[in-house]
Amino acid sequence: MRGVFDEIRDKGLVMVGGKGGVGKTTCAAALALHFAREGKRTLIISSDPTPSLSDIFETEIGPRIVPIEAIPGLYAQEISSEVILERWRRRFGGEIYQVVSSFVDLDEDFVLDYIGSAPGIEEEYMLYYIYELVRDGSYDLIVWDTAPAGHTLRLLRLPTLFLKHLEGATRFYLQVWGYFEKAKEAVRLRAKRGILEIVEGWRRLSEEIEAFIRDRGRVSYLLVTIPEALGVRQTERIVADLEGHGLKASHLIVNYYVAQADCPFHRARKEMQDRYLQYLRDRFPDLPMTVLPLLAHEVKGVERIEEVASLLDTP
Ligand SMILES: Nc1ncnc2c1ncn2[C@@H]1O[C@H](COP(=O)(O)OP(=O)(O)O)[C@@H](O)[C@H]1O
Ligand SMILES: [Mg+2]
Repeated sequence: MRGVFDEIRDKGLVMVGGKGGVGKTTCAAALALHFAREGKRTLIISSDPTPSLSDIFETEIGPRIVPIEAIPGLYAQEISSEVILERWRRRFGGEIYQVVSSFVDLDEDFVLDYIGSAPGIEEEYMLYYIYELVRDGSYDLIVWDTAPAGHTLRLLRLPTLFLKHLEGATRFYLQVWGYFEKAKEAVRLRAKRGILEIVEGWRRLSEEIEAFIRDRGRVSYLLVTIPEALGVRQTERIVADLEGHGLKASHLIVNYYVAQADCPFHRARKEMQDRYLQYLRDRFPDLPMTVLPLLAHEVKGVERIEEVASLLDTP
């Protein structure tokens, strides 16, 4: 059977999703460590508002990319909302202002603060940011430890929403432009050509990103869940949501499985988990699954992450 490492080996990006507390960060860290050890230049990024990469790797990781000293070839980043917005502004601010100011005279900071405060901008930019990292080939593999499910699902809507916040400005501009065209203000039209190029650039970019996230050869959608009713329901929802966007989950990790039960308490638990495991297998017969046992200890530090990586290696 195809293991989770086989699924990811040739990809550029793996998105790790699932509800909070199921072991996303743990699995993301184990995958990243594994591929860094295989010799891939690997970046693990967390966009969870409560990131825990610093805890699991036992080293200070901030909003800038830093190497993990203990694991050559592994880099990490805990990206914050502020940094995302700041980068968004640096990348798109000038263009947006150029477009907006071509038809209305407003202060630049006002315009950008206004557009930047729209919900969804962060996720949009995050997707763009990661897409650029993949496209530039700065890393062989990017493991994206996403925020808990709701957030991630919103993200998957983005291909169609990408740069939507700029579209309002665009539409307005095009209307004005159309008006002038009708008025045959040819001189004026020529002056605006740069603006149309910007808008066209945005459109191309959103198409590229859309094509990228649909490229199964380049992107893996890894889900992490627990063998309990809550986890199963959540998984069904995420899989359906992915499908709603024409995307397919690539692999499922079922975490916290009680592998050995030698007392009535654990036997009862294992029985319950076995039922949900079977349900998941029946429900998603085409979705490759890896079961990760519940360990006696928390996963913290390189040795423990290594232990999880080797457990994930058994299909
Ligand atoms: N298989 C496991 N066995 C024991 N503890 C685990 C296992 N997987 C994760 N943990 C622990 O559970 C907690 C939550 O895991 P984490 O990866 O941070 O979840 P998430 O990122 O989904 O919120 C952490 O303390 C982690 O060390
Ligand atoms: Mg986490």
